[in-house]
Amino acid sequence: KRKIAILTSGGDAPGMNAAVRGVVRAAISRGCDAYAVHEGYQGLVDGGKMIKKMGWDDVQGYLSVGGTVIGTARCKAFRERPGRLLAAKNLVKEGIDALIVCGGDGSLTGADLFRSEWPSLLEELISTGDLTVEEAEPFTHLNIVGLVGSIDNDMSSTDITIGAVTCLHRICESIDSISSTASSHSRAFVVEVMGRHCGWLALMAGIATGADFIFIPERPPSGEDWEDEMCAEIKRHRDLGKRKTIVIVSEGAIDSNLKPITAKDMMDLLTDRLHLDTRMTILGHVQRGGSPSAFDRNLATMQGVEAVEAVLASTPDVPSAMIGMNENKISRTDLMKAVALTGEVAKAIQRKDFVGAMDLRDPAFNQ
Ligand code: F6P
Repeated sequence: KRKIAILTSGGDAPGMNAAVRGVVRAAISRGCDAYAVHEGYQGLVDGGKMIKKMGWDDVQGYLSVGGTVIGTARCKAFRERPGRLLAAKNLVKEGIDALIVCGGDGSLTGADLFRSEWPSLLEELISTGDLTVEEAEPFTHLNIVGLVGSIDNDMSSTDITIGAVTCLHRICESIDSISSTASSHSRAFVVEVMGRHCGWLALMAGIATGADFIFIPERPPSGEDWEDEMCAEIKRHRDLGKRKTIVIVSEGAIDSNLKPITAKDMMDLLTDRLHLDTRMTILGHVQRGGSPSAFDRNLATMQGVEAVEAVLASTPDVPSAMIGMNENKISRTDLMKAVALTGEVAKAIQRKDFVGAMDLRDPAFNQ
């Protein structure tokens, strides 16, 4: 009987529980044993009670619950080879040769490294006497499948990541609430949203709420006088009779010299230059918590099932799969390539030659 384990890693994302449920139930339906590794990679490193066999009913009620019930961690130990050696030993001792990892860019990079090191990890464990040749023999190949769970929507080779839509919705609700008080007082609000080095959440929230200005890492404001331009634009909106001003700053926003653009700087700018009564709201982890949207539940369920199918289809010569969604279809792509491509985008942003975002100063987006 195949033994398939799932873990959730990195920042939690709404929909991760649906992914765990999908994997557990798909594995059981396909005649496999399903395991949940608790606390992300830390559970693999610690082994023992952290790796639990899951039954059909163990994931009952998972669909509507936010976060991840099986726990997650940003695990330092797994970043070092000794940690990965312990993880490999624990998997072999449990008889598990397939690992489905639901996490973001960093977690999937770790998964890919683990897979590539697997033969050498086993060799080392045999040489140190931690495993016998007989114990290691059936586990010459580790199947890894990646599910992208991240509110940031920052992974290449997939149009959308598990949790991003719920998070976007939560941001929009918050900005709607802020907008009503902003209008009442004729105030300006600078709202900082998450996303790490990716501006997707800020950009989409800006379009969905009709923000006046948006700052995202992919499109640093250009020219020396961008502050003047922004103030002129906001003043124009005010002169047209708008009683509120909303500026969204992605937490990774930078200027063209790669200097961070902060919500505080923008609040001071609006106060000093336009004399607007300005407040700042850092939405923080409110964005990441709470019950997942129907979209994320369904996305994660379908992808969880596909991940099990990918495990069952995998052979040592086929590269590890990443389950994504492209043009509305669940897709299976090469995990290693997706990880590499994501790194390239990050580097392009640092080189300032990435033009992937829309210009929100385009009249089409102005109210
Ligand atoms: O990657 C998800 C994310 O929420 C980012 O948007 C944010 O930068 C980061 O995680 C926050 O991490 P933590 O929860 O560890 O503070």
